[in-house]
This record gives sequence, C-alpha cells and structure tokens, in this order.
Amino acid sequence: MQRAGRETGGLEAALREHVRRFEESFGRAGRVRVHFAPGRVNLMGAHLDYSGGPVMPLAIDRGTFVAARERTDRRLRLRSTLDARELVLELPEPVPPRAGRWYDYPAGVLRELLAAGAAGPGLDVLFGGNLPIGAGLSSSASICVATAHALDAAWGLALAPQARVDVALAAERDYVGVQCGIMDPYAVGLAREGHILWLDCKDLSTQHLPLDPAAVRVAVADTGVRRELAWGAFNQRVAEARAAYEALAPHVEGATCLRDVPLDVLERHASELEPVVARRAEHVLREVRRTFEARDALLAGDLAGFGRRMLEAHRSLRDLYEVSVAELDVLVEAAEAAEGVLGARLTGAGFGGCVAILLSSTAPKGTLERIAEVFERRFGARPAVEVFGGDPGPRELELA
Ligand code: GLA
Repeated sequence: MQRAGRETGGLEAALREHVRRFEESFGRAGRVRVHFAPGRVNLMGAHLDYSGGPVMPLAIDRGTFVAARERTDRRLRLRSTLDARELVLELPEPVPPRAGRWYDYPAGVLRELLAAGAAGPGLDVLFGGNLPIGAGLSSSASICVATAHALDAAWGLALAPQARVDVALAAERDYVGVQCGIMDPYAVGLAREGHILWLDCKDLSTQHLPLDPAAVRVAVADTGVRRELAWGAFNQRVAEARAAYEALAPHVEGATCLRDVPLDVLERHASELEPVVARRAEHVLREVRRTFEARDALLAGDLAGFGRRMLEAHRSLRDLYEVSVAELDVLVEAAEAAEGVLGARLTGAGFGGCVAILLSSTAPKGTLERIAEVFERRFGARPAVEVFGGDPGPRELELA
C-alpha cells in the first residue's frame, strides 16, 4: 500500500472538514482513518479504450475521501456527505442488489472483495470529496478505487494497486451495470505525481510519461451540463465501434480489436459500412494515430505539438464521433483563440461535462477568466474554469 503522506494546502483543509463531518455523523470516539483517490482528465485517446487503443489520462488533485472507523461488531454503515440515504449491512450478510443510489459504487466494491474471501470487523464509513460528480472527471472510478483502498487498509488485505483497479472495474461493470472502458480505474489507481499515464488498452501495458509542471498546467472548464441519458448514448458508441470492428476484421489478419485495422483498410471498405459506423471508425483510427503522435511530441518536449493533437481530437469527437455539445465547443473555441493555450478538448465521455485545457506557463494572467467570459456571454452562466494540480494517486491521508 502507498505510504501515508502529510497533506498540505487545499487537500489538508478538505481532509479536516471531512473528519469533522464524520464525527458529526458517527460521533467522536475512536481513530478515524481517511483514504483518498483522485479523479482524472484524459488528454489524448478519446473513446479509444473500448476499441483497444492507447489513452493518456492524468490524475488530478480532486477526488473522493473515504473516512472509516472500526466497530466492535460486524455492522457496516456507509454514509455520504451528499445524500442522506445510507446502506447498513450486518456482515457476513450478502450485499443487496443494486439500488440505483450513490452507494451502488462502494457496495459493488464490497461485493467483489467479499466474493474473493475478504473479511474484517464492522466499520462506520463516510464518503465525500471535492470532485464534480458526473462531469467526465471519473468520479465513479474515484469512489470505487477509494473504497477498495479503505477496505484494504481496514481489513489488512494487502491488495496490490492492480488488484484495486480490477475490483473497481468489476464493481462498475458487473454491479452498477455501466459498460465503461478500462481507462478510468487505471487512470485513478495507477496514477503517479507529475506524470501522464500511457495505457495501451490492447495489451494493458503502461508507462508513466513526465509532464513538466514548469512548462505547462492543466485547467478544467466545466460546462455545468449533465446529461442523465449520457450512458445510453455512450453504450450506443460502444456498439457502433463494435459493429465497425466486426465488419472490418475479416479484411485484417489477426485483428482482435478495431485499433488493429489500418486506416487504408477502412478507406477501401468504408462504403460497405453504415455511414454512421464509418464515421465512428474513422475517428477511432485517426485518434489512435494522433495519440501516438502526441506521445512522441510529449517525449520530444514539443508541448505545442501535443496541444495541437488535443484540438484535432476535439474536432473529431465533434464531427465524427458526435459526442460534443455546443457548450463544450464554445469552451474549446474560446480556449483555442486565447493566448498561451496550447490545446483543449472535451474530456470523458462527452455530451456535457468538462473541457481539459493545456496552458503554457507563459500564458498571460486572466486567460482563464477570458475563456469563462466568452461562455458566459453565449450561455448566460459563468462556468468554473480552474487550474488543477496533479496527484500521486490513491493513499491514506494524514493530518499534519
Ligand atoms: C468514459 C468511460 C471511459 C472512456 C471515456 C471516453 O469516461 O468511462 O472508459 O471510454 O468515456 O474516452
């Protein structure tokens, strides 16, 4: 398990507040341990994970807090700072079926761990955090990985980081029932401070690529748009990418995913595909190429080249994959026009949520305010646009 580090700045203040809320909810007696898992932005490799392509997420210093205290019996009480409904279980009672509530995520993790033979004392647990929920910043993977981290510590399970990633992914797919790709739990669970994670979703190989904090910063602009039905549209994209793979695979020896199809094979056979399926495939295959180019640019210190690929990715998400909305496009266009912005694109699944902005350290003061103003003039509401720091990944937090 990762070391406990003393926290400073915003995280320390949020941590103190979370402990206070825990004691307000469950009372003061006994030692409270607090675990944290970050959220993420994805900088390149948009909608590639479920087609076997590479992705380039970066963990951010906003995430989920899980405060837990041991009980003398075997009762588990899961509460949230955001929702009054709680889950109470008497271990070893089985986890009830999914309820359509916030606690489905930790319950799914709990079910996975119990099924693998985990056991331990009862716990009082309070969930909270400082990550916007449903905004494309991976709040669900964050809560799942943070839960796995907290139970691991409380019950002495000695899980490896990869095991926590696997449990989080299984909880979301098999219990919560979202056909999400693999990127988010990896991005959260294997994060390293100051590094973008390179994850090849075909062979699951990973690399940590340094992002120079003296040269660039990452800002996040939140449209405030949340689409309840977004998962339906997401699952449709998964099905269309699958249809493209099935139609094109017979033309490519040994292909096991859409990423394996060369662009010229798509070009030769595009007219045999439904036009919408051909557009989805074109996004995927060009984005695979762009993501490799973006990695080369990053490794060569060409951050402008990296940012250019982000802008191209956004246009492709807008025109070919069709997962953008006007609010996202306006933010990306405003960012592109601003001095000192190297790149910008929607992050996460799309249909609302956030834009990630790559900002040169030479960007003039007030750049983010000007981007927010463009959005406000058009939509009448001011979006939150902030620089986010990086994060070292899941850990137990300690007060200084
Ligand atoms: C969502 C999914 C991820 C990934 C992105 C799009 O965040 O959870 O697995 O597919 O969309 O890149």
